[in-house]
Amino acid sequence: MADKLIIFDTTLRDGEQSPGASMTREEKIRIARQLEKLGADVIEAGFAAASPGDADAIKSIARIIERSAVCSLARANERDVRAAGEAIGPARSGRIHTFIATSPIHMEKKLRMTPDQVVENAVKAVKLALEYTDDVEFSAEDAVRSEMDFLVRVFDAVILAGAKTLNVPDTVGYSIPALWGERIRQLIERVPGSDKVVWSTHCHNDLGMAVANSLAAVMNGARQVECTINGLGERAGNASLEEIVMAVKTRRDVFQCDSRIDTTQIVPTSKLVSSITGYPVQPNKAIVGANAFAHESGIHQDGMIKHRETYEIMRAEDVGWSTNKLTLGKLSGRNAFRTRLQELGIVLESEEALNTAFAHFKDLADRKSEIFDEDLQALVTEEAAAHVSEHYRLVSMRAHSETGEPPSARVVLGIGGHEHVAEAKGGGPVDATLKAIDQIAQSGTELLLFSVNNITSGTDAQGEVTVRLSRGGRIVNGQGADTDIVVASAKAYLNALNKLHAGAERAHPQV
Ligand code: KIV
Ligand code: ZN
Repeated sequence: MADKLIIFDTTLRDGEQSPGASMTREEKIRIARQLEKLGADVIEAGFAAASPGDADAIKSIARIIERSAVCSLARANERDVRAAGEAIGPARSGRIHTFIATSPIHMEKKLRMTPDQVVENAVKAVKLALEYTDDVEFSAEDAVRSEMDFLVRVFDAVILAGAKTLNVPDTVGYSIPALWGERIRQLIERVPGSDKVVWSTHCHNDLGMAVANSLAAVMNGARQVECTINGLGERAGNASLEEIVMAVKTRRDVFQCDSRIDTTQIVPTSKLVSSITGYPVQPNKAIVGANAFAHESGIHQDGMIKHRETYEIMRAEDVGWSTNKLTLGKLSGRNAFRTRLQELGIVLESEEALNTAFAHFKDLADRKSEIFDEDLQALVTEEAAAHVSEHYRLVSMRAHSETGEPPSARVVLGIGGHEHVAEAKGGGPVDATLKAIDQIAQSGTELLLFSVNNITSGTDAQGEVTVRLSRGGRIVNGQGADTDIVVASAKAYLNALNKLHAGAERAHPQV
């Protein structure tokens, strides 16, 4: 029988460390529900010690999730471990993931600790975590640049202290598959009691090898992979869940293990994470990119028609591409709307929230004849965004483009109890609109990213706009969706400005 491969999803923790990807409690809850539906074994819901907001989000997720373990990250110190223990308290199955750096450079320059102190802190943290749960994971941060003998010593000590999962991270994305596989093999061989624990890997993608390195670890005995949806994560990101899961499933002959992921939920999960975090998925991304199953050349199309498997190693429907089903229309009632939201795992907090969302749905259905699941997800994302703190509110706008004339826009914004009007010209209607908004807001921000994606197909599709802004070292993403992409752009820009204005700060676990 094939071994079980544990899928540890860290979209809500390491994924959230991507610039601008920070999420509200409600957004995290929506993603956590979808991850549970996907079948993730462990959901790392955040870093409880980062802020009261993070701790609260983990606690809320712990209360709701039934079929996945809910985990909080904690540095190897008393305050972090206690915060994590309290946050996962309500979980049916809760895990504490404690870590400390073990490489000479991190111990000396970052922690300013001796190797003995690092071992002592690791052991203490694991023992304290065991007071809250018997499911304790330990990570040796920067294991890739750690000395092998020292890693063996640390892992030996934390196994004796009671850790059940040992994670070996390539924190800086430095390794290559042959070396990473060898490192895992040697650890399993050399650490006493290694057969009593689950070996895990956590790879970053700085050299584009996070998935390859993780799979090399699996081939050498790792039975947990830490990964994120769409490969989101610190810097170049983490190993992408969808690629790991489909590689293992498609090449069972090589891996001899399998996950319990419901692969038909992969694409819906990818779309949800992309829409909430504002990180678009590149079209040629494996599994979840729009072109991943598109056969363009005549030779390929001919082969596909004659026999599908000539060019296709996986079926699009197996990863959820066909679940893009028509959901509701103009005549759908409130009950049908509520039921479909429930089926999508979306729970609105009050009848009032449902009424507002339903009114927006009706408005959308007037402009767009067919409403798909993705439209509903975008609608709820927008509703949630509107609650971030609406310092700037779009009252109305008009944009004009005509051949031979400079594009122009007029925008009315509500700020406090007052309305402010501005007009501007620009390179196009979007440019003119954002300039008009900025005349009022005087934001002093730098635009890092502007992207438009169609949520579904057809010319009446909603455009989903992501705007990434930076100011004074802070980076935020704003999203907006509308059948009119100029309006969607204005909404996205205001959403980003409102997030900057709300300005909740939180600690970073690895700094
Ligand atoms: O990359 C890393 O080392 C981490 C640890 C906290 C596991 O994210
Ligand atoms: Zn990481």
